[in-house]
Amino acid sequence: MQRRRAARVILVDESGAVLLFRGGDPARPAAGTWWFTPGGAVESGELAETAAKREVREETGLEVTDLGPVVLCRQVEYEFEGTQFSQAEDYFLVRCEHFDISDSGWTDGERRVVEACGWWSCEALRSTKETVYPDGLATLLKELGISTVDSRDRRAVVREGYNRVSTTYRGDSETPPEHRLWIRELLDHLGEKAEVLDLGCGCGIPVARDLTGAGHHVTGVDFSDVQIARAKQLVPTADFVKADITALEFGAAAFDAVVCLYAIIHLPLEAQAPLIGNIAGWLRPGGRLLLTAGDTAWTGAEDGWLGGDAQMWWSHADRATYRGWLGAAGLEITSEGSIREGLGVHSVIWALRP
Ligand SMILES: C[S@@+](CC[C@H](N)C(=O)[O-])C[C@H]1O[C@@H](n2cnc3c(N)ncnc32)[C@H](O)[C@@H]1O
Repeated sequence: MQRRRAARVILVDESGAVLLFRGGDPARPAAGTWWFTPGGAVESGELAETAAKREVREETGLEVTDLGPVVLCRQVEYEFEGTQFSQAEDYFLVRCEHFDISDSGWTDGERRVVEACGWWSCEALRSTKETVYPDGLATLLKELGISTVDSRDRRAVVREGYNRVSTTYRGDSETPPEHRLWIRELLDHLGEKAEVLDLGCGCGIPVARDLTGAGHHVTGVDFSDVQIARAKQLVPTADFVKADITALEFGAAAFDAVVCLYAIIHLPLEAQAPLIGNIAGWLRPGGRLLLTAGDTAWTGAEDGWLGGDAQMWWSHADRATYRGWLGAAGLEITSEGSIREGLGVHSVIWALRP
């Protein structure tokens, strides 16, 4: 029995799909084929991390800079081309942009063995009758909170997700500490009876409630039926519109301030810069934008969000990209910070329409 260490990589794209190869043992065609992740033997003196990156580069052409955590360690025994192996495997999780693999770095052995390659959705992995290694990959992905959202379904996933988690996400009279600080700062910037637009306003608590309470007029927009219904009930003094924030029309310079908290990150990236352009047009000169956006680029989905049965989807650009979009829209950043939420970080940006 030959002992081996192997480093394998579960590559997950922004839709939650996983890259797998299909192949078999050329010495045992009767054994059929199976699907497996990129990866291979750790060479003598090599670190598992180095081997994982090298194997992904050789087998797919992708340069991995951020190798994620080891999410599975297993010991397997198998036969390949007449040799029995006892192999200790570490599986790393790597999130990446979807890409078409290149086989230019394949060895002769890989060319003999690999017959196909494909991106698998989590649903397809759950229901397939084909053999997939490691065993239980679909369950592992579920435990890691990874799920697949087709690009056509993203908005529906977000809207339905907030319909389900509305009250878990925010109680009827809950004020997160960071919102309290932001509202206080915003009130300092507003004159009398200001017009404020709250994009992705949720249930209206606390932003619409506190701003209307201070004598301002708030127009809140959200596309979740449950969020808007609660907002109308909880803050009857504000106006709420059930709509997609990417499909709004307001007059030029209609608002003294625009608030968009934890909402732009639910739009596909290609819709985010145009929204910032629209916001700049809706602000009067001297008007303020308060925006929470991405800090590092990340796109993905989660099942069972907030402990319930909701699926959720996000897409963050990195902070420099948001700075660029705000600048291109003619908005001047007046201050910037960060806010931690769970394991993630958001940028908090205040901007001014000159
Ligand atoms: C994380 S919640 C934030 C709620 C509120 N801004 C706050 O900070 O408490 C995001 C809200 O944005 C809404 N949303 C996401 N994408 C949207 C879209 N394309 N159009 C309208 N609302 C959207 C969701 O329904 C949800 O209520």
